[in-house]
Amino acid sequence: MDRIRIIGGERLKGIIPISGAKNSALPLMIASLLTRQTLTLKNVPRLADVTLLSRILGNHGVDVTVVGKKAGQRTSDGQTFRLTAAEIVDTTAPYEMVARMRASFWVLAPLLVRCGQAKVSLPGGCAIGTRPVDLHLSTLQALGAEIELEGGYVIARAPSGLTGAKITLEKVSVGATHNALMAATLARGESLIENAAREPEVMDLATCLVEMGAKIDGIGSSTLHVQGVDELHGAEHTVLPDRIETGTYAMAAAITGGEVFLEGARGDLLQEALELLRRSGVEIEETATGIKVARNGHGLGPVEVNTAPFPGFPTDLQAQLIALMCMAEGTSTVRETIFENRFMHVQELARLGARIDLKGDTAVVTGVNGLTGAQVMATDLRASVSLIIAGLAAQGETVIGRVYHLDRGFERIEEKLSQCGAQIERLSS
Ligand code: EPZ
Repeated sequence: MDRIRIIGGERLKGIIPISGAKNSALPLMIASLLTRQTLTLKNVPRLADVTLLSRILGNHGVDVTVVGKKAGQRTSDGQTFRLTAAEIVDTTAPYEMVARMRASFWVLAPLLVRCGQAKVSLPGGCAIGTRPVDLHLSTLQALGAEIELEGGYVIARAPSGLTGAKITLEKVSVGATHNALMAATLARGESLIENAAREPEVMDLATCLVEMGAKIDGIGSSTLHVQGVDELHGAEHTVLPDRIETGTYAMAAAITGGEVFLEGARGDLLQEALELLRRSGVEIEETATGIKVARNGHGLGPVEVNTAPFPGFPTDLQAQLIALMCMAEGTSTVRETIFENRFMHVQELARLGARIDLKGDTAVVTGVNGLTGAQVMATDLRASVSLIIAGLAAQGETVIGRVYHLDRGFERIEEKLSQCGAQIERLSS
């Protein structure tokens, strides 16, 4: 299993290209199931989750082609995928696949609405909490699907198609909104999705569905009106820049007292996080081509924050913020309101010398004068990268195990950081 070795203490200085968003690319790839024609996606990141989803979609009959490299293309440019689901050959998503990547559960709605039936494994437990799928199922039931649970599988049937309806999500859920949108686009008549998630990745999916011929109003708001259409067609769509990768590198630059330009990043996708960093003393300048982040010689101030659905502070940046606050002057409080067990990084950060008290859903982080390198273990995607951030600032050597978690969501992380002066390498074994 690969590990990552960091010798901390170097200031990051340089340019970091921001990749396409993992959490946009995955539902967009799944949307290819909704049409017989080709969906071309540009700026797809090179990530283990994208490769795995390509295999999963391939099992359903989607022909996935990665367009070859063109002259003048840089390694940092995203890939172009062509996905064609001319014929769905299998409507079952097996446990072995869904258990490896939760987002693959989202094939349920497009398979059901296109084929009239789908059998998709329940995703099972997950390192960041129980993560139920009740909202996904009630959404499809509202649209007229019959749902049964059998042997760990969801069996959904709608032999005469789905019918538009009013769907009120009890809780804001990104995945359930994706599911509702995909199902409603091909349902008969009008649907109203209330309390929809407003995350940029939901907007990206909705925009792409409109490019495919769907009729959706209210994109970007919490109320989505969908007028069902008979069929969708092919389209070309560019995946949004990754706001979580952006925030992560901004915090990495901040913890090292460095200065980086996050090329291709869009500040409007993470205003709350950028404001928080500004309040903590980080200089942030948003430009038309990216975001400049600098902390030249100033100390970091502590912060108080709750994670929240968009436009609030994202849960996917909570672990990274805790790592950063370990080096702030004072005590920060970070409350996790989205997932109930998303503090696995706290124990590992403590191995580097962090002082963090967990009080229920809140981490109280008392800044220390310095962190010290140690061996640590990655537990999930965002937790792993928080250890990298801490390792960049720690004195001496930090070795992070189980880095396959990182490869799921961060493209060429050690290359991007070493190009900015970090001493970081992958130890393959
Ligand atoms: C998406 O997960 C993201 N995953 C997560 O990113 C992200 O943390 C999360 O949204 C919140 O922003 C992808 O986009 C692939 P939810 P999702 O449904 O859709 C509860 C990362 O690190 N809930 O918005 O699965 C749920 O338990 C990942 O990239 C129900 O109760 O999250 C949670 O408390 C991790 N019933 C809350 O809603 C349901 O049926 C929000 O979860 C569904 C969700």
